[in-house]
Amino acid sequence: MLTIGVLASGRGSNFQSIIDSIDSGFLKAKIAVLITDNPDAYAIERAKKHNIESLVLKPKDFTDKNAYYSCIAEELKMRGVELVILAGFMRVVGKALIDQYRNKIMNIHPALLPSFPGLHGQKQAVDYGVKISGCTVHFVDEGMDTGAIIIQAAVPVYHDDTEDTLSERILKQEHKIFPYAIRLYSEGRISVEGRKVIIKGGREDSLLINPP
Ligand code: GRF
Repeated sequence: MLTIGVLASGRGSNFQSIIDSIDSGFLKAKIAVLITDNPDAYAIERAKKHNIESLVLKPKDFTDKNAYYSCIAEELKMRGVELVILAGFMRVVGKALIDQYRNKIMNIHPALLPSFPGLHGQKQAVDYGVKISGCTVHFVDEGMDTGAIIIQAAVPVYHDDTEDTLSERILKQEHKIFPYAIRLYSEGRISVEGRKVIIKGGREDSLLINPP
């Protein structure tokens, strides 16, 4: 069974969607640990409720970024983590972790990348006036939301949308495609060729207009 480690900084609704997918049997995986940089993250409560170990590791307690991410990598390795999930982890991950988990770190971003990377992807989409936005699950590389794209889901953007209304519409899709991407990975159906992610046995699986 796939062993995953989750990194989250905040409320952890994506973390919860992964927990729920495991509980329902949709996803056959085990969450070994939650690591957070924020002692007040609500994700910690969610971990407690489900008997998942949580670790608070604050960057300011480390000499530099390299020491911080080396420590995270070590904690993950120690617990046999095979796939790292960034579920609202609000930092650009350091090379020390990426090198240890190349093409084994997934992030979810609330826009259709490469549009609107960085913070507030939903607000950027509303302000720009696009008619379609969505969310993207991608592998993490050294850049900001630049890694190879695994799955995207699209949602409409209405002229009277606000950041909040669009965020809510997108979040519903996030909660579907993130567990789905992890499931594809756990089934060994994902491979990476340069920038392209190949999903074995179903090329339609990578764009979900109305995810199941
Ligand atoms: C989500 O919108 C996700 O796309 C972004 O950060 C937010 C995290 O939300 N990366 P939650 O903590 O999972 O509820």
